[in-house]
Amino acid sequence: MRLIDIKYIKSPINYSGGKYRLLKQIMPLFPSNIDTFVDLFCGAGTVGINANANKIIFNDYIHYLPELFNLWKNKSLEEINQYIDKTIEENNLSPTSKDSFIEFRKKYNTTKNIEDLFILICYSFNYQMRFNNSHQYNSSFGYEASTMNDNIRNNINLFVNAIHNKDVTFLSKDFREVDLSSLTKNDFVYCDPPYLISGAVYQDGKRGFKGWSPQDDIDLYGLLDNLNSEGIRFALSNMIHSKNRSNDYLIEWSKKYNVNYLRANYNSNYQRDMTGKDVEVLITNY
Ligand SMILES: C[S@@+](CC[C@H](N)C(=O)[O-])C[C@H]1O[C@@H](n2cnc3c(N)ncnc32)[C@H](O)[C@@H]1O
Repeated sequence: MRLIDIKYIKSPINYSGGKYRLLKQIMPLFPSNIDTFVDLFCGAGTVGINANANKIIFNDYIHYLPELFNLWKNKSLEEINQYIDKTIEENNLSPTSKDSFIEFRKKYNTTKNIEDLFILICYSFNYQMRFNNSHQYNSSFGYEASTMNDNIRNNINLFVNAIHNKDVTFLSKDFREVDLSSLTKNDFVYCDPPYLISGAVYQDGKRGFKGWSPQDDIDLYGLLDNLNSEGIRFALSNMIHSKNRSNDYLIEWSKKYNVNYLRANYNSNYQRDMTGKDVEVLITNY
């Protein structure tokens, strides 16, 4: 596969399992004529926001990010940036003021203001969003490392501009509850679920979220089989081998479709090694 150097929009949220580094490989594998693009497990929205389609539906059952993006959709870029500046100033946030971060975190856990959550993430360790079982935000402070820097500002601007200029809808449902019944052959469903054989923070069943199980995989493959029988195109991101584990059910199921192997590091001449390395794939029905 030839990798063309296209600049993609980067989500301002650093997300575990985010697909930004794989976009160069994934996007050329998508069809070019899409009416509605559904990003069924959108996470930080990285894939959907770059989709070339008339209409984009983003969904993730963790409601924080669809809620934030929906709010941004209804505010001007100027209002968004003003709110960020004012909040940083009023709460004395900086990459060295741990006390201010702790105070602000406490405040967010009371108000649950979604824009404040975004700002908190920008000052958190590794820019990672994390909650405890009762949905209290508990990421630690990103001392001298995390801050609302120019890169994030730039990513906000590009991301929000795209939200404003495209026909976008944000949902927060379990994937089984999303109504796909009006989709036609002109539409496309992209699925980037948690990978059964690799652990991300949103899938371990702790931290207030329900986790991802073999039954979820089975339900998702059933949903994709149904789409296929209706002639609706889909692509599924997943991992078939990781370290010493394999997803055998997925390997068996995928034999019905096309399996595109992705390079773990698209900048190098990485050779796939079935014995130990992660093997990430994009499974398509077209
Ligand atoms: C690999 S991440 C998606 C990353 C995304 N493509 C990106 O680039 O940012 C998987 C997502 O699936 C979501 N998820 C987990 N279980 C779900 C369910 N039952 N229904 C809908 N979304 C779910 C998680 O909240 C997580 O955001």
